Amino acid sequence: MENIAVAFGGRSVEHEVSIITGMQIMENMDKSKYNPIPVYVTKEGRFLSGESLKNIGTFKRKDFSNAKEVFFKGFANDKNLYTIESKKGGLFGSKSASMEVYEKIDVVFPALHGTNGEDGTFQGLLEMVNIPYAGCGVMSAAVGMDKVTMKEVFKSHNIPMTDYFYFYRNQWKKNPENILNTAEEMGYNFFVKPANLGSSIGISKARNREELVRAIDVAANYDSKIIIEKAVDNPREINVAVLGYEDELRISACEEPIGWKELLSYEDKYIQGSKSGKVGMKGQKKKLPAELDENMQKHIENLAIMSFNAIDAAGVARIDFLVDGEKVYVNEINTLPGSISFYLFEEKGLKFTQLITDLIEIAHKKYKNNLENITSYDSDLLKKTTYGVKIQ
Ligand SMILES: Nc1ncnc2c1ncn2[C@@H]1O[C@H](COP(=O)(O)OP(=O)(O)O)[C@@H](O)[C@H]1O
Ligand SMILES: [Mg+2]
Repeated sequence: MENIAVAFGGRSVEHEVSIITGMQIMENMDKSKYNPIPVYVTKEGRFLSGESLKNIGTFKRKDFSNAKEVFFKGFANDKNLYTIESKKGGLFGSKSASMEVYEKIDVVFPALHGTNGEDGTFQGLLEMVNIPYAGCGVMSAAVGMDKVTMKEVFKSHNIPMTDYFYFYRNQWKKNPENILNTAEEMGYNFFVKPANLGSSIGISKARNREELVRAIDVAANYDSKIIIEKAVDNPREINVAVLGYEDELRISACEEPIGWKELLSYEDKYIQGSKSGKVGMKGQKKKLPAELDENMQKHIENLAIMSFNAIDAAGVARIDFLVDGEKVYVNEINTLPGSISFYLFEEKGLKFTQLITDLIEIAHKKYKNNLENITSYDSDLLKKTTYGVKIQ
């Protein structure tokens, strides 16, 4: 039996979406093999754990009284989650506190969406601890999150995308005219986005200068880097997920979100569906499988795999497309998609429980592969060094 720490919540605007993904993963994990340990990251960034955190009711009531604060030490190869136990009965009844092992963890399963979780930061902590973890590594998570860097990498692989340019918030403050003129050279309509975010938060369409100014102001609330993209007017949206590591990849069924206006908003993604009792991305109005002719489907699947490989992704990622007649554009890659896109693989006969097991096995494989890397170099550099003297 392996202890799997499932991390969810997080300092992110997608905090609530992540709670749902985390709950779904713990619920559907194969309990004959794995023991799920909830690690709830609060909006302030504290790590909490406890059985009560396996129950969605705890989050609805915001009652964390039965939860314990836990932490990794951050030292390499210490895979324990620790907690601080305070005891009474010290001298004169004083309290004493001691650090105790809370649980030994075998694999960490990040279910964090957005900033401080899907962007390489949490993955960095896990690399320092040197513990196996599901999903993308530090670099691919970071590149996948930053829409500008993602597009720059995709461009180098000739992956089709709409035109775009980017700038910094301070440039907007200093010289808005310059940015508006640059955008207008590209020609309306535009989509304006914070470079690092998700769930459609902070994103707006701009059809004229007034809307463009407002859209940039909105996006600038969420990130210091802003991207302006050429809009595809009335596109079809097609999403498909890729599962695997290095050259062993599987592709899911394609879905087509429907019923949205202008853009697929947070409400369209998460709220509409929940009215029908379905939670998370599964509830979003969609056609699954999407109705695509064979060539188009093949083309989209190939581009999805190219995008996955372009950032060295691992585990599961969802690639979203904008389709305009025969033209296909990659819009973005989500390296920790909502509900880990289980419903797209279920359509191909891969059950949610098996998807989770496959992701844990990929985590072990990736970890073992990294262990083959030599991380120290025998050098007599220090012997040669006389402290403070410039080395020739
Ligand atoms: N260039 C574009 N043309 C047309 N629609 C777009 C474009 N970019 C984004 N959208 C719309 O906005 C939604 C959110 O944009 P996206 O880049 O996917 O951000 P997020 O990472 O927040 O999901 C998309 O699902 C789509 O509906
Ligand atoms: Mg999106």
